[in-house]
Amino acid sequence: MVKIGQIELGSFPLLLAPMEDVSDPPFRAVCKSNGADLMYSEFISSEGLIRDAIKSRAKLDIFEYERPVGIQIFGGDEEPLAMAAQIVEAVNPDLLDINFGCPVKKVTCKGAGAGILKDIPKMVKLTAAVVKATRLPVTVKTRLGWDDDSKNIEEVAERLQDVGIQALTIHGRTRTQMYKGTADWTLIGKVKNNPRIHIPVFGNGDITIPEQALDARERYGVDGVMIGRAAIGYPWIFREIKHFMATGEHLPPPTVEERVAICKEHLQKSVAWKGSVVGVLEMRRHYTNYLKGLPHIKDFRARLVTASAQDAIEAILDEVVFHYRDYLFERSATLPTIQDVLSSGAQATGCNVYG
Ligand SMILES: Cc1cc2nc3c(=O)[nH]c(=O)nc-3n(C[C@H](O)[C@H](O)[C@H](O)COP(=O)(O)O)c2cc1C
Repeated sequence: MVKIGQIELGSFPLLLAPMEDVSDPPFRAVCKSNGADLMYSEFISSEGLIRDAIKSRAKLDIFEYERPVGIQIFGGDEEPLAMAAQIVEAVNPDLLDINFGCPVKKVTCKGAGAGILKDIPKMVKLTAAVVKATRLPVTVKTRLGWDDDSKNIEEVAERLQDVGIQALTIHGRTRTQMYKGTADWTLIGKVKNNPRIHIPVFGNGDITIPEQALDARERYGVDGVMIGRAAIGYPWIFREIKHFMATGEHLPPPTVEERVAICKEHLQKSVAWKGSVVGVLEMRRHYTNYLKGLPHIKDFRARLVTASAQDAIEAILDEVVFHYRDYLFERSATLPTIQDVLSSGAQATGCNVYG
């Protein structure tokens, strides 16, 4: 049984990655109902929380059915991070995660996100301050190191464990790699197999099919895997991995009816949580991924991303089901790029830092 503090997560938990402009409550709801064991909010700026910025506050919304759920914060200064930890504690999530992995310049140049990987003593200090400021279990998500010449994750893991973090998620790239190339799981495995490390270590990076999750467990020994892009438009990834790990067999891919049903549920939750205008607008980034694999879907997609009323969108989705009712999907293993995610709608509603 993998445990973070008192939170029991089963034998090989599947975590939904924090993703800005994606991992909001509507998306988390469809991932939860398809088997995600632990989910995280989008990252929240500690400075924004303290300023009471509306965007930061909205990201604090969590619902009982989501538990266990973690809230992720980022920042480069001790005091705001500690204050943000107290604000987060007040909304009572199950845990608090610190983002030391965001590779984007706007974040790293302030010594936050992966920027901190250049200054390990400061990283340790910030983490200790957060652990001290809250009763919540504190976890960290980070990368292998700043660049190829400074892959310091082994030292980082030990030192963060020593100041009290209760789990570590490692993305298998350096900061300078951003999302290029492929994730390297070897070092993740080394951290996990260090006899000094007793907290759970979760691996992250490029998991798209059940075989890779099994490999992560068997070859690298990680306690669980975190999945990001592969869940976008495909929340079934969680149940597919679970089924495969339990039986060695693949579930059949979801039918077009199932895809559209979940897409509609996502839309309904989006409208219920964000209101009809923003809810519809922000949903636009998801249609391409829900309908991925369907041939000649361009015209339907164009209509979906220009329709502005929920019932009109639902009617188009019903047409999709009718049109493709006999279509047999093949299993797909391609990841949407960050640009794919953003180009279909996120940019319309603000600036996504991760883009
Ligand atoms: C659109 C987008 C937004 C992201 N936002 C965050 C974030 O807020 N916090 C974070 O720690 N990582 C963020 N990430 C990184 C993911 O959590 C994850 O580490 C990355 O996508 C690699 O995992 P994957 O290969 O399973 O997608 C984001 C990634 C994407 C694609």
